[in-house]
Amino acid sequence: MEPGHLPVLAEEVVTMLAPAPGSLQIDATLGGGGHTERILGATDPDGRLLGLDADGAAIARVDRLLRPRFGDRLVLRQSNFRALGRVAPEAGFGAVDGCLFDLGLSSFQLGDAERGFGIRTGGPLDMRFDATRGVPAAELVASLDAAELTALFRRYGEEPHAPRIARAIVAERAVSPIRTAEELAGLVERVAPRTPPGRRRIHPATRIFQALRIAVNEELDALEDGLTAALDLLRPGGRLVVLSYHSLEDRIVKRFFQAERRGCVCPPEVPVCVCGRSPRLRLVTRRSVTPSPTEIAANPRARSARLRAAERLAA
Ligand SMILES: C[S@@+](CC[C@H](N)C(=O)[O-])C[C@H]1O[C@@H](n2cnc3c(N)ncnc32)[C@H](O)[C@@H]1O
Repeated sequence: MEPGHLPVLAEEVVTMLAPAPGSLQIDATLGGGGHTERILGATDPDGRLLGLDADGAAIARVDRLLRPRFGDRLVLRQSNFRALGRVAPEAGFGAVDGCLFDLGLSSFQLGDAERGFGIRTGGPLDMRFDATRGVPAAELVASLDAAELTALFRRYGEEPHAPRIARAIVAERAVSPIRTAEELAGLVERVAPRTPPGRRRIHPATRIFQALRIAVNEELDALEDGLTAALDLLRPGGRLVVLSYHSLEDRIVKRFFQAERRGCVCPPEVPVCVCGRSPRLRLVTRRSVTPSPTEIAANPRARSARLRAAERLAA
């Protein structure tokens, strides 16, 4: 049986999006469709939702699961959310009341050995959300030199032992290629220093896997593009809700919200605004919202989640 995916902060997401009957909503990261199901339910009887996912398997699964209940109120497209500005108007969602981003990967992807997302999976080291585009992680591991791997692990994994791990990869692949997630995780485990006693134990390869996944999917650039496109699509009063799972993502969301809340981008030394930009967002959450201990106990994946929400102004 396929492992399920529990939607994170599901009630809070619906409260923040405040989807009304008859409204138009976008779920930019469909995954297992848990949030979509709740959002569409809250827009009964006639709200519509455009669901996007880069992963064709997610689209097929949600189609199977939710089509019987929602019929043509649910519109699905396999696409990267970077293309939201083109895909949404083409699908009849040119001006919407809400847009959700629930970043990262789903439990379906994590549990699928063939995708190489999980540290303990024996399948090929791929990690692409859309396996028909871009290059698999194994190719980066096989081709980048030690300096490039170090930079990648530092930048996208904030990995303190990046040089040591990069050197070990280069030495290992000269002897035998690193093809599977399990081989990479085993290698990192052998060379990374032990977690000091008393610190929360995460697998030593966790940050390396995060870094490779971000690089393979160009996740941070996609997030910036997706947020910009979503804001352009929102009607005044429309809500933008984002769930992020690590500090690199959350920083981008926070800065984007702050910049659009401020509007003016003139340098501080300019006495009068010359950029002419006005604020386009009002913050709905001053600080990020995090899951309760009860939710984390029931769904450990929720552990690192941070939710931020903002409302489109008329500007
Ligand atoms: C955390 S899951 C979403 C789970 C979903 N909210 C639910 O309740 O089941 C994230 C999903 O977003 C997709 N995804 C990640 N980055 C994407 C991007 N740039 N464009 C489109 N889909 C993306 C992944 O393929 C994955 O299925």
